[in-house]
Order: sequence, then structure tokens, then C-alpha cells
Amino acid sequence: MNVPAIALAGLGEIGLGAHLPALLRNPGVRLAAVVDPDPARRALAAEHTGAPAFDSIGEVLADPAIDAVVLATPPWVTPNLVGRVAATGRFVLAEKPLAVSSSAAAPLAKLPAGQRKRVQVGLTYRHDPALEVLRDWIVSGRLGDGLLVRAHIYDERRAPDAPEHERRIEATLAHGMPVVHEGAHVFDWFATLFGGPPERLEDSWAVATRPDLPSANLCGARLTYPGGVTVLAEFGWLTDALPRCEISVVGDRGHAELDGFTFDLRLTTAAGVERVAFDEDRTTRCFDLQLTRFTELISGARAVPSPGLADGLAALEISERVAVLAAWSLA
Ligand SMILES: NC(=O)c1ccc[n+]([C@@H]2O[C@H](COP(=O)([O-])OP(=O)(O)OC[C@H]3O[C@@H](n4cnc5c(N)ncnc54)[C@H](O)[C@@H]3O)[C@@H](O)[C@H]2O)c1
Repeated sequence: MNVPAIALAGLGEIGLGAHLPALLRNPGVRLAAVVDPDPARRALAAEHTGAPAFDSIGEVLADPAIDAVVLATPPWVTPNLVGRVAATGRFVLAEKPLAVSSSAAAPLAKLPAGQRKRVQVGLTYRHDPALEVLRDWIVSGRLGDGLLVRAHIYDERRAPDAPEHERRIEATLAHGMPVVHEGAHVFDWFATLFGGPPERLEDSWAVATRPDLPSANLCGARLTYPGGVTVLAEFGWLTDALPRCEISVVGDRGHAELDGFTFDLRLTTAAGVERVAFDEDRTTRCFDLQLTRFTELISGARAVPSPGLADGLAALEISERVAVLAAWSLA
């Protein structure tokens, strides 16, 4: 195959901010089209690319020259688009979460095998080498046994001078608590770090910091992972001040800290402190790696997508269970 022709659908924050630059940086792909129903977003994209712009994916799917589509769309429209693109035999890189509920994602779970193997899921930070380092510290026993994980995932600060951002995040909250959106990444990291999905969801909680929010903006859970690992995970959006975003793993012999934004690592043991940081910022390196793996899938160099639909659906399933149990705690 020649350089694959890829269309980008969804020209919002992550579409224009991360996928488009990654597509333009990668000499192994050709950006063949951009799609967004919002003319203002198409105009913004035009500042960076001369690729033809369309208001619906239909035009892209009618063009036989296009090999693949990157979907950077809201999760309440993504499942239908994945199904439409996959049905044409094209490759899809679909943003997380795949949907806002398992029932909305059910058609994806039933895709025929031939289509499934063409769908990669945008669990972008799975590709970060920092996760491999942290996994190595865990499995090699450097932290000891009896691990306790504390994940504090705080993002989407409410800034008084950014009302549009606040409006967009509130609109997203109407489709589920922060865990539904952030949990896609975080539960995928835990599955990678601890060798599988949680064995038990022990309990969940939620707090709304304002009564007028469409759903609770703080929520969390206690889970047990394989090997008896206890995870305390909390997710928060839309506060004027954000607590530190980080994941830390405490064991008898060491304490590992992963910065939630940079993925810089720090390991503290009796021998001292070890730090690990990688080149480029986390977004650049992970979106580049993700796109490289997608091009390998398109070219046939990679037989199965990584991460694939099963990974995206598994992360959605546990995120949803946490949200449902947390909603009960509010009732
Ligand atoms: N992988 C990551 O690190 C990461 C980071 C941020 C967001 N995300 C995910 O990416 C998705 C998009 O997030 P965002 O912050 O960019 O949202 P956004 O609201 O800023 O952008 C979404 C864009 O999709 C467009 N859109 C809506 N329906 C469409 C359709 N049918 N066809 C084409 N475009 C359509 C909207 O007009 C909008 O411009 C979400 O699922 C979010 O969770 C992933």
C-alpha cells in the first residue's frame, strides 16, 4: 500500500490539539480530509491544512481513496460512527471512551471479527514508555508486596476566564461523571499494570460540589486487582483549584509516583530516589506512538489493533460500574 490516506473526524480540542498535529508530523500518512459539522471548527482546521473539509462523514466514506478514519468525536456520537466506518472495511482509530454506556457500545461488541480487527481505540497513554517502567518496578518486586494504589485524577479546571471550556465540560458531565470519561484511560492503565481487570469493585462514592451540575463532578472507588492490589481511585472535574493529578503505588519496600500530566516517574526506596522522564511532552510522544501503531495496522505490519475494541469495552464496563454504584451512594 502507498502512504495511507487518513481522514480526521471531530475537530474539537483533542482533534485539532493532538490528532491533527500528529497526522501532520507523520511522513507515513497523508491527511486526506477533515470532518466536523461545526463550520467554525472546519475554519480553524483550514488554518493548519489544505485538506478538503466536510460537514459529515458520509462524504469521506463515499471516497474510495480514503483508507482510514481517526474519530475524535464525543462519546455519544462515536459508537455510530465507528460502526459506519468499520462497515465499509476501513480502519478506524476511535477516541475513548467508545461510548457513554455499555448499552450504547453494544453494537460495537457485536462487530464481525473482520471489522473488529480494524478498530484501534484511542487509549493513548497505554503507549507511554513510563507505564512500562512502572510495570517493571511492580512486577520485579522493587515496591515489595501488599500494594496500595492511590490514583487522584483531577483535570478540567474551571477557569473564570474560560466560560466556553466550562460549558463544554458541563455538557460532557451531562453524559456521565468524570469516571466515565477519564476511567477509560485509568482503568486501562491498571489492567496493564496489574495483569487484568479488577477482581472486585468494593465501593464507590460521588460528590457534587455545586447543586446545579448535571452530574456529580467528584467520584471515586475502591477496587481489588489481581495479586490483592488495593486501588483507591478518584476523579474530579470543574473546581477552581485542582488537587495534584497523580498515581502513586505504595508497597513495603518502595513508593512509586507517576505524575498524572507529564508521566514523569519517581521511585523512593531505602536506597534513595530514582527519577525517570522521557523526551517530548507526554501528549506528543503518545499521539505519535499511537499513530505509528495505527499505520502498522493499516499496512498489515501489525495483525491486531493495540489497544483494540475489547480493551476499550473493558475500560468502559468498569468505569460504568463505578459510576452506577456511585450514583446509588448519592440516592
Ligand atoms: N486520548 C486522549 O488523551 C483524549 C484527550 C481529550 C479528549 N479525548 C476524547 O476525545 C473525544 C473528543 O473530546 P474533545 O475534548 O476534543 O471534545 P470537543 O467537544 O472539543 O470536540 C468534539 C468535536 O467533534 C465534533 N463532532 C460532533 N459530532 C460529529 C460528527 N458526527 N462528525 C464529526 N465531528 C463531530 C464537534 O463539533 C466537536 O468539534 C472525547 O471522547 C474525549 O473523551 C481523548
